[in-house]
Amino acid sequence: MGRFIGLFVFCFSVVHVSAQDTWSDNVAQIFYNNCTSCHNPNGIAPFSLITYKDVKPFSASIETAVFNNTMPPWIADSKYQKYAHERVLSFDEKVAITNWLKNGGPEGDASKTPPPPVYKTKGFISEKADLEIKLPVYSSKASATGDDYVCFSMPTGLTSTKKIRGFEVIPGNHAIVHHSLVYIDPTGNYPTDTSAGVCTGPTTGLIGGYVPGSPPTVFPTNGSDFNLGFEITAGSNIVLAMHYPEGSYGKVDSTIIRFWFYDDATPIRKLQTSSLIENWQFVLPANKETEVSGSRKIGNVDYSILSVFPHMHLLGKRIGSFAITPTQDTIPFVSIPHWNFEWQEFLFFEKMKKLPKGSTIYGEGRYDNTVNNLHNPSNPPKTVYPGLNTTDEMFLIYFHYLPYQDGDENRDIEKLTTLSNFKVIPPVIGVYPNPASNEVTFTLPETVHKNVQIRIYNSVGSLVTEVINTNQLDSSRVTWSIPENVTPGLYYYSANVEGTLSSGSLVIK
Ligand code: HEC
Repeated sequence: MGRFIGLFVFCFSVVHVSAQDTWSDNVAQIFYNNCTSCHNPNGIAPFSLITYKDVKPFSASIETAVFNNTMPPWIADSKYQKYAHERVLSFDEKVAITNWLKNGGPEGDASKTPPPPVYKTKGFISEKADLEIKLPVYSSKASATGDDYVCFSMPTGLTSTKKIRGFEVIPGNHAIVHHSLVYIDPTGNYPTDTSAGVCTGPTTGLIGGYVPGSPPTVFPTNGSDFNLGFEITAGSNIVLAMHYPEGSYGKVDSTIIRFWFYDDATPIRKLQTSSLIENWQFVLPANKETEVSGSRKIGNVDYSILSVFPHMHLLGKRIGSFAITPTQDTIPFVSIPHWNFEWQEFLFFEKMKKLPKGSTIYGEGRYDNTVNNLHNPSNPPKTVYPGLNTTDEMFLIYFHYLPYQDGDENRDIEKLTTLSNFKVIPPVIGVYPNPASNEVTFTLPETVHKNVQIRIYNSVGSLVTEVINTNQLDSSRVTWSIPENVTPGLYYYSANVEGTLSSGSLVIK
């Protein structure tokens, strides 16, 4: 028995020691992949987490945020239902960060730290948009006691119906746009409202949104026979409901939204969007928690459900939705155990959900109208009713859906909603270490790498070697072991990544 225990302890400690992570070895890369899209000097987060020096002072709060799953912000319970593009740390990443912090957060060999990603403020897609709308310049009126929620209703000028395949919201000021909801208003009548700071948008026509650090919205397409999208009719307006948080007072924004359309001739399956679950009949008495629910029986058509978007305002505590089929099967849609108004977004299912005719969809929410709710806009709490202002409440669960077709439930939504059908802004290649002595690593952005060629030239422009030349690279790193016969000095690298050239100097010591 004693031997068994000994063996166990031995194995355990071996695992522990081999898990001695350092910032430069692997922790930096985990931060680059999961944190720095918001935690960069121009990002929405209040501090940068790009360099070791940035991260060190926040060790304790990072440990808590990672342990409690509050960072990266992602409100849905991914164990209840899986979504495409989830913003969550993997188990291994969590273990690496926590072990690293427990060991005092060592930096390791600073010269080996991979170069941090470069954040562009001009969006991801380089392809010319089919429709681009720029919001007027607006100066945030957020105060110490209230965020600023305003709606801009913008004419599209469209003279015929178009089919939307994707859109991108590009904040004019990344540091103050906390989120933005995108609506189509086919009537063109919804008004711009920047007066009281409590506008959250129309009650219909929500097609998507923007959350900091997330890529553009792409509706599922395989580029040939499977194309989903929204139709937008002539004369429609686009309404953007913008959220400027506390601390943004007096700062100026002018957000841009860009749309890409399918060709008029491309047959698409039209997505529908509506709050299939809603309740406008509730009362939330002051100093109490209250449950609110809603349900809807589906008629005589099978549907495919693409996404879910639960919506409450500041008193929301938790919300969930599921369906029960006529054969008593449960279809889980969403469970948000800790509602957070600031991080609401469309959750695209990993695979579409088939909702058989005759099913009933249920929604259940809980509101906390007590002083314990730190987001409660009234202190002391007041009785609150449903309404359109942020200080009123809402109970809505939106869905993107369409009539079911065979095989819908097997489509890989994560793959079909990437930027692979768009021309993206040229990748920036990273080179480290530089100066280098034994080996040098080139890093490419995390996109598809179909054609990659990297060459090294000497200072007079003669080719020294071709590091790689491939039409399929399954990694975002290429390492070149510098041969002995390459003498120290100044060299140049030249990279061609999917037709985009980049080059720079490389010092070998
Ligand atoms: C999508 C944007 C985004 C991403 C990604 C993100 N953060 Fe944050 N983070 C924020 C914002 C915004 C705040 C400020 C508080 C808030 O609004 O929730 C914040 C606050 C924090 C705080 C302060 C304490 C707290 O919990 O509020 C810590 C610590 C933190 N983030 C760590 C991280 C780490 C570590 C990662 C990656 C594993 C990460 N964040 C990823 C946006 C982000």
